[in-house]
Amino acid sequence: MRTALAKRLGCEVPIFAFSHCRDVIVEVSKAGGFGVLGASTFSPEQLEQELRWIDDHAGGRPYGVDVLIPSNYDKEAEASLGELERLIPDAQRKFLDGLLEEAGVPPLPDDERARVRQELAEGRGGMTPDGARRLLAVALRHPGVKLVVSALGAPPPDVVALLREKGVMIGALCGKASHAKRHREAGVEVIIAQGTEAGGHTGEISTLVLVPQIVEASEGIPVLAAGGITRGSQIAAALAMGAEGVWCGSVWLGTRESELTPFEKEAIFAAKAEDAVRRRARTGKPVRMLRSTLSEAWEKPGAPPYLPTPLQGILYNEAHARVVRAGRRDLYSFPVGQAVGTMNEETSVREVMLRMQTEYLAAAERIAALWEE
Ligand SMILES: Cc1cc2nc3c(=O)[nH]c(=O)nc-3n(C[C@H](O)[C@H](O)[C@H](O)COP(=O)(O)O)c2cc1C
Repeated sequence: MRTALAKRLGCEVPIFAFSHCRDVIVEVSKAGGFGVLGASTFSPEQLEQELRWIDDHAGGRPYGVDVLIPSNYDKEAEASLGELERLIPDAQRKFLDGLLEEAGVPPLPDDERARVRQELAEGRGGMTPDGARRLLAVALRHPGVKLVVSALGAPPPDVVALLREKGVMIGALCGKASHAKRHREAGVEVIIAQGTEAGGHTGEISTLVLVPQIVEASEGIPVLAAGGITRGSQIAAALAMGAEGVWCGSVWLGTRESELTPFEKEAIFAAKAEDAVRRRARTGKPVRMLRSTLSEAWEKPGAPPYLPTPLQGILYNEAHARVVRAGRRDLYSFPVGQAVGTMNEETSVREVMLRMQTEYLAAAERIAALWEE
C-alpha cells in the first residue's frame, strides 16, 4: 500500500493520523504512518513546545500540522486576541451556567478557571485566519513538518504561496465535490475527503459516496479517504475507490497514548455509533460529537442561538472542563465519529497500525482470490 503520496511524504504506509496529542503523532510516525498534529487549540508558544518535543522523539521522521482557517468566523474576535471572553454575551453565559448549576456541577476553583479561560482565549484565537497564520509561522520553523493541512475552507493565497516557497505540501479537508474544485483552484496538493460519519467538523455526505466523487473532481490531485475508518478492509476499499491513503481521527482517542483521561475513555468505549451526533454546541459549526445533555442543550426550544466561531468554543470549553472535573458522564461530550461504536477497549497506536495492515492484507487477498476462480 505504499502509494505515490506515501513515497512523496516519506512514510511507509499511507495511514494518516490526525490527533491533538503529540504522543500519538510520534507513535504513528514510528509505526510507518504519518502523524498530523491538530494545532488549532494551542497558542503559538504551546505549539512551539509540542513541535520541539515531536522533533526530539520522532527520530527524524516526517509529520504534519493541521490548522483551522474558517471562511466564516467572528471578525471582532480576530482583532481581540486575549480578550475574547469580553465578546461572550451575558445571556449565553447565564444559560450555560444555569444549566450546569441545575445539574449540580460545581464551578471550577478560581485559579483553575482563570487558567482555563486564559488558555482558551489564547488557543481559540488560533481558530481564525490570522490565528492560523501565527501557528503556521511556528510550524515552518520545524523542518520535520512536511505537510500542512487546512480545515473549514480553502487556504488563502498567501498561505499557499508561503508553503510552496518553503517546499511544504499543502492539504485541505473537504466534505463535498464543490469544495474539491475550490481547493484545486487554490493550489491544494492533497485533498482529504471527509465523510459525515467522521468525528469533528463534518458535512452531510457519507464517505462511501463522497470519496469517488472527490477523486473525480480532484483531477489527479491525491485524495485521502476520511470518516469512519478503523479497519484495514476500509483501507482496501478506500484505495479501490481511487484514494491514495486514509486519514483517521477517532480511532486514536481510544489508545493509551491519547490525551483523554480514563473517565473520558470509558465514556467513549461505552458509546454506540448512533451516540455520535452532529451538533453546533462545541464551536458554533456542526461537529460530530458524543451526545449528552450538554450537546443537546442549544437544540431545545427557548435556548439562545449558537455563537459564531471562535466564541461558542470558548463558552463551551469552560463548561466541558467543569464536566470532566466532576466526572459527569451524562453531560460529557467530545468530538468523535460513528466509528466510536467499534472502539470498546483501550489499545495502543502500534496495535492499531498493525491490525489495520493485517486486515488490509486479508481484504486484498479476498479480492485477489475472486480473480482466480
Ligand atoms: C477529537 C477530534 C478533533 C478533531 N479536530 C480537528 C481539527 O482541529 N482539525 C481538523 O482538520 N480535523 C479535526 N478532526 C477531524 C479529523 O481530522 C478527521 O477528519 C476525522 O477524525 C476522520 O474521521 P474519523 O473520526 O471517523 O476517523 C477532529 C477529529 C476528532 C475525532
